[in-house]
Amino acid sequence: MTDDSGRKGLRKGLTSYGDDGFSLFLRKAFIKAAGYSDDALDRPIIGITDTASDFNPCHGNAPQLIEAIRRGVMLAGGLPMNFPTISVHESFAHPTSMFLRNLMAMDTEEMVRAQPMDAVVLVGGCDKTLPAQIMGAASAGIPAIVVPVGPMVVGHHRGEVLGACTDCRRLWGQHRAGRIDAAEIEVISGRLAPSVGTCMVMGTASTMACMIEALGLSIPYAAAIPAPHAERLRCGEASGRAAVEMVARGGPAPAALLTPASFRNAMVVLQAIGGSTNGLIHLAAIAGRVGHRIDLEEFDRIGREVPVLIDLKPSGDHYMEHFHHAGAMPRLLRELSPFLDLDAPTVTGGTLRDYADMAEDVPGQTVIRPRSAPLKETGGMAVLRGNLAPGGAVIKHAAATPALLQHTGRAVVFENVEDMTARLDDPALEVAADDVLVLRNAGPKGAPGMPEAGYLPIPKKLAAAGVKDMVRISDARMSGTAFGTIVLHITPEAAAGGPLALVQTGDQIRLDVAAREITLLVPDEELRTRAAQTGGAAPRPKRGYARLFHDTVTQADRGCDFDFLAAEPED
Ligand code: FES
Ligand code: MG
Repeated sequence: MTDDSGRKGLRKGLTSYGDDGFSLFLRKAFIKAAGYSDDALDRPIIGITDTASDFNPCHGNAPQLIEAIRRGVMLAGGLPMNFPTISVHESFAHPTSMFLRNLMAMDTEEMVRAQPMDAVVLVGGCDKTLPAQIMGAASAGIPAIVVPVGPMVVGHHRGEVLGACTDCRRLWGQHRAGRIDAAEIEVISGRLAPSVGTCMVMGTASTMACMIEALGLSIPYAAAIPAPHAERLRCGEASGRAAVEMVARGGPAPAALLTPASFRNAMVVLQAIGGSTNGLIHLAAIAGRVGHRIDLEEFDRIGREVPVLIDLKPSGDHYMEHFHHAGAMPRLLRELSPFLDLDAPTVTGGTLRDYADMAEDVPGQTVIRPRSAPLKETGGMAVLRGNLAPGGAVIKHAAATPALLQHTGRAVVFENVEDMTARLDDPALEVAADDVLVLRNAGPKGAPGMPEAGYLPIPKKLAAAGVKDMVRISDARMSGTAFGTIVLHITPEAAAGGPLALVQTGDQIRLDVAAREITLLVPDEELRTRAAQTGGAAPRPKRGYARLFHDTVTQADRGCDFDFLAAEPED
């Protein structure tokens, strides 16, 4: 990618003072303050996003990884230029990390566009960061290559292997039920996340890294190499080289890789890895940036034919490092080849077939199953419709209790997250194991920021009695690391006038995953009466980013991007 004059390096860039010669002179004068020579400045410039932050332990290896990327860029004859963007960690982002994803996407887009660079290397990993960075880079339109920071290694406790944060929930559940005392849970908190890197189960971070490799946006094996491994640094070095080679080839820009065929490939992978439900929202947002739509019905159809092949928590037993040692994405892509379009191009200049062709056979591994012996016969997620979710809802049935996938129960309604927190553990709460827990006003506008509140805890008195799962439904999201019979992303959300706002405690709700239905068993006439009496709309924040978010965030089916950021803005 070069400017109109065909020149690279500092000449590229849109800053202009009406005199190109003077613009370059001024740019050089200032950058030379940092000691650069003309030789350095006349090379292809590779921007590298620096998302290291003391508040982001997942990105704790970003400084070393960036050093490796810089080395790769220089070995290939380019000039690396780091620049900071905001960094978003799941646990340190109030009110939710999802609330900040679009801010990070805007930051990334504008800084990539504003500063002179010929290509950009996106270094991220914690859940919202990679989607935000790809959304931004796709809109900025210059060649981009993703380097995930990589997953953590596993932890150990009393002979058991632990992973963030599927086991966080399981063990906290045991603590709530009185089976793990305060001293032991404190010890466990030091063992769940034993290294830098992203959560090492098939949560959102791993899901995004796998889909990104399938989209051809990262080099082969980039998704699963553990964060602390030397190989992760070599992946960085190779990606730095690849970025310079992309500039030499004149691209491709992300939009050339993000095609209907590659989105379909990503959906196949999302189903086959038993990936996070969040992955679907992020994929929809990325698609929106390049003028495409993710068709939920197509995603559901893919799920009916593509089996879950990866035996990883929370759907299975293993962790990302085991996936890596079993052959990682190339091996999975080869196994999935009947479902994939392997002619899809990648950042390497070749196609996805090259990735599948380098697959290694690892004797005795059981993490990547053959199609003949899948972990589950059908994909990880299903899309539900019905009078409760006219715009769709999602269930990760791979991580649900089979007996609850067809279930009718009495609704127990929580008005919002605060109401749920206040009443869920109240011994006086009338609730039974076969009830359906309903949470509303926890969608994109409602909470705001669509928190991962969809994993409603089992009420304490039921948990103590041994209840491990119940049907739970909401307009919220759920952590990709969670387990349960949980219906999410009910669209439209309650705060945007969705029928979820009309449910009353005592109503009957029917979940039928085989029929792909979620139904409120209340007559239409009664629902119309209730609708006339319901106020609904979320309060409008007075100012700032919260106001922008409230006014322009789309629903889950459009990826919760801001309407004006999509390539084809909505009406
Ligand atoms: Fe960062 Fe899980 S908290 S990936
Ligand atoms: Mg997560």
